[in-house]
Amino acid sequence: MKIIVLAAGKSTRFKSRKHKALHNLLGKTILERTLETLWKLYPSQIQFVLGHQLELLAQELKQGETFIEQTEQLGTAHALQIGLSNLQSITEGILVTCIDTPLLRAETLENLIKQTQKSSAQIGLLTAELDNPFGYGRIETINNQIKIIEEKDASTAQKAIKQVNAGVYFFNMPLAQIQAGLKAISNKNSQKEYYLTDMIEWALSQNLKVVSEKCSDSEEILGINSRLDLEKAIQALSQRKIKQLQAEGVSFLNSNSCLIAPEAQIGMDSIIGLNCQILGSTTIGENCQIHNNCFIQDSSIGDDTQIRYSQIVESHIGKACLVGPFANLRPNTQLADNVIVGDFVEIKNSQVAGNSKIPHLSYIGDASIGEQVNIGAGTITANYDAILGIKNKTQIGNNVKVGSNCVLVAPIEIADNCFVAAGSTITESVKTKDSLIIARQKQIVKENWVKEKSLKNFELNR
Ligand code: UD1
Ligand code: MG
Repeated sequence: MKIIVLAAGKSTRFKSRKHKALHNLLGKTILERTLETLWKLYPSQIQFVLGHQLELLAQELKQGETFIEQTEQLGTAHALQIGLSNLQSITEGILVTCIDTPLLRAETLENLIKQTQKSSAQIGLLTAELDNPFGYGRIETINNQIKIIEEKDASTAQKAIKQVNAGVYFFNMPLAQIQAGLKAISNKNSQKEYYLTDMIEWALSQNLKVVSEKCSDSEEILGINSRLDLEKAIQALSQRKIKQLQAEGVSFLNSNSCLIAPEAQIGMDSIIGLNCQILGSTTIGENCQIHNNCFIQDSSIGDDTQIRYSQIVESHIGKACLVGPFANLRPNTQLADNVIVGDFVEIKNSQVAGNSKIPHLSYIGDASIGEQVNIGAGTITANYDAILGIKNKTQIGNNVKVGSNCVLVAPIEIADNCFVAAGSTITESVKTKDSLIIARQKQIVKENWVKEKSLKNFELNR
């Protein structure tokens, strides 16, 4: 079975300089999401009909995904005509779909194919019933004869029809017969376009059999024509995932305020607060608390961990950790179990071993921190060499206690069990364990200085 995806349209309603198929739908493009579903049907080939911004889309295609150009966008029937033009014959039918319906499930498409084959029909048509059918082709059935009327051509009575066309067709007939049907379609309609939907009326006039399969979840057929549709698709995909997670034992305080990617995994008894975005291939363990306003992308989080008001990207957090509020964990941050990262702490490309704490106001970059370490408030790793333009490493051993407001100028190494005095700027490595390291000016106290100073001022002012 081959699949043809119609994707040459200009998407004028979407209003973008970028093809609508390249817009983001919860971490993947509309194109990627559509392809993911279509490959689940094991087609021998997926052929795109491209036109508008052909180069941009063509460079996204992978093995088994071909394209053919529709230079003038004369309508969906014309697009299919072009899509079929380099095929020699059809075996096991051909599925035709549009690039802008990424919520369709593979099972829905499989069912359409099966039902068409089972009833020995020549065309299978996917339909749905929508409370608000605006914008979709309406399916009018009179005396068992199906006709599809586009929004712009529909009468008031036809506009009230809730049964709509999903834009997905399975053709179970010889190539020449499909081509004959497409040839018979005219563009006498309000948009002066060749509508693929007119194939249905033609097929019935030729005594061919058409079956229509109603999609049980009408949300699946959502066509992304505008920004409003894109928002609806993002919400729908996220809600689909949230329903699945709730069924698996995950709590949401207000799921409508959250966005959860289909790829994310969350363990039982975890609680997700308000306004959380959990994106990419994120894995969250069991019994975690993700408090309000967290943004977590492509990260893994162990069981029993709590995250508050924080951003975590491409990082790993172990079990029973506390992160935030207001922590920023940038790519390749690795926290082992029982680590505490507190408020206003930024970490990137660093490893922190078990039971260590970075509780307040720190920057840790390109560092490796041992077990049971405490990093005092305001401590930073000065990792950037502005002359060479490189980042240097900081290595802190086990049980090291770094006092508040220290600067560790990398490259630097601090041995196990060392104490670094508060306010120190450390520029040289200390490789001897159990040392106290002080790198600050000795305090000077000038007794009676204030009094003397005031006296002088007093005299000058006279
Ligand atoms: C289409 C259907 C409508 C259905 C809806 C479902 C037609 C005439 N109408 O309407 O019945 O309810 O989908 O979402 O088919 N395209 C081309 N070349 C063209 C024109 C369009 O490749 O010359 C492609 C577009 O890129 C798009 C698809 O065909 O992927 C459908 O076109 P679109 O303009 O989105 O049609 P709708 O108005 O959504
Ligand atoms: Mg559309």
